[in-house]
Amino acid sequence: MKKKFYITTAIAYVNDLPHLGHAYEAVAADTLARYKRLKGYEVFFLTGTDEHGSKIIRVAKEKNITPAQLVDKMVIRFQDLWKKLDISYDDFIRTTEVRHTGVVSKIFKRLYQQGDIYKGTYKGWYCIPCESFWLESQLKEGRLCPECDREVKKIEEEAYLFRLSRYEKPLLKYFKDHPRFVLPSSRKNEAVEFIKGGLKDISVTRLKLDWGIPCPIEENHSIYVWIDALINYISALGYDSDEGKFSSFWPADVHLIGKDILRFHAILWPAFLMALEIELPRMVFVHGFWKIKGEKMSKSKGIVVSPEEIIKEYGTDRLRYFLLREVPFGGDANFSPSLFIKRVNSDLANDLGNLLNRTIPLVIRHCQGKVPRFFEEEKVLKEKIQEVLIQVEQAMNILSFSEALSGIWKIVKLANLYIDRRAPWQLAKKESKQKQLHTVLYNLLETLRILGILLFPFIPGSAQKIWTQLGIEENIENYLLDKGTVWGQLKSGIKVKQEPPLFPRIGKEAKK
Ligand code: ME8
Ligand code: MG
Repeated sequence: MKKKFYITTAIAYVNDLPHLGHAYEAVAADTLARYKRLKGYEVFFLTGTDEHGSKIIRVAKEKNITPAQLVDKMVIRFQDLWKKLDISYDDFIRTTEVRHTGVVSKIFKRLYQQGDIYKGTYKGWYCIPCESFWLESQLKEGRLCPECDREVKKIEEEAYLFRLSRYEKPLLKYFKDHPRFVLPSSRKNEAVEFIKGGLKDISVTRLKLDWGIPCPIEENHSIYVWIDALINYISALGYDSDEGKFSSFWPADVHLIGKDILRFHAILWPAFLMALEIELPRMVFVHGFWKIKGEKMSKSKGIVVSPEEIIKEYGTDRLRYFLLREVPFGGDANFSPSLFIKRVNSDLANDLGNLLNRTIPLVIRHCQGKVPRFFEEEKVLKEKIQEVLIQVEQAMNILSFSEALSGIWKIVKLANLYIDRRAPWQLAKKESKQKQLHTVLYNLLETLRILGILLFPFIPGSAQKIWTQLGIEENIENYLLDKGTVWGQLKSGIKVKQEPPLFPRIGKEAKK
């Protein structure tokens, strides 16, 4: 039986269009999912949308449509973008689907019956213009709404609460016993410090929301967003309906989330799972935030970058590459058009693109367009590939995509150096150097074949195009990384194909 790997992204709110942060999270999860598939795992990659809550109601009202109409419209924008970004998800869950709402309702009932949920009072803060509820801890300095910077109103109403306080000690113990539960460790420390500060029970219903899952205990209450949203990770797996599927993929190997929702995933979710006697996820990985010119992205301030526009102008893989290469492990990053162009020109056009664009024409000119015979392997290249494979595996296990890519680029750079030093165009001039010429070209082509496999998780479309140029007709995704990267598998005699450059340089004429 294949080893299983279950990875999720956060489910996005659909009150607004997808932005660069959403694209980043999806691309990162997709890359890991593709990598694990190449490593022989049976992967279940889940993403989806978070469709309830007061924000949705507010935005729908502004647009003069119903919440249902709004979410149906917005979900398409997310799914379209995922298609453009080559996101290979296995399932897409919407929190308005019956397969989800049924599970939430059942879980709520059970938690109530066993005393983990009880009736009490919700004390919190409410932003009237945003129609949003906030916890004291979420407010900006001066008790302002974190969304619109306006004053919020204290409210007290009847609500059902989850006994989070009960899980303070078990959570601390769990963190101690599982040091890799939350990564990077700075985020783990943040969560632990928060728990040590004391956990308060948290309200899980609101009065009279007409857009939400009805509370199964009392009709005039609605289940409020976080318990609803978090349960997607198990409802999508068939918790309570498909025992086989659920037990083969749960616990999740990675929940990939941004830093603003750390507490919900590192504290509330594990506490829910403990209450339900379900095993906890193996890892919550917290990525950083994309900023624009050092500022938080914000619609109202006009600080947004549309992933669609970047794709339209520069293509999917340039964006995927930039997002994954530019962000070091877990940190924040800046988006600017000049950083983007600089990075993709130097790595994709100059290094990778050039390697391919120099090699293929030489094969066409000097080997009748066919992969030459294999005489002798180039040790330096072969050894570098071995070294990089280890580096990539280590980096991927801690979601350090930039580290993995910089490893792969060692191969690209070495191969470019190799072509400079061996100067096949010189060898081609002498009849006596034919064997050497063929050796050099074979080694370059074989390196490119292996690069295709290594790059596939990151830039799948372009990696497949590299193979096409090498004359290989198979799909990279049908390969296994460990077997596929063994040196010497490129068959002599197959016809290479010259195609337009994969990553032409973005010149001064490029807009923005
Ligand atoms: O939080 N850079 O949804 P969401 C990087 N529905 N990542 C960012 C980002 C940025 N500038 N802005 C947001 C929600 N994100 C809930 C999740 S999960 C059970 C429920 C990340 O649409 C954010 O951190 O506000 C989160 O991981 C994801 O995008 C969706 O954010
Ligand atoms: Mg958010």
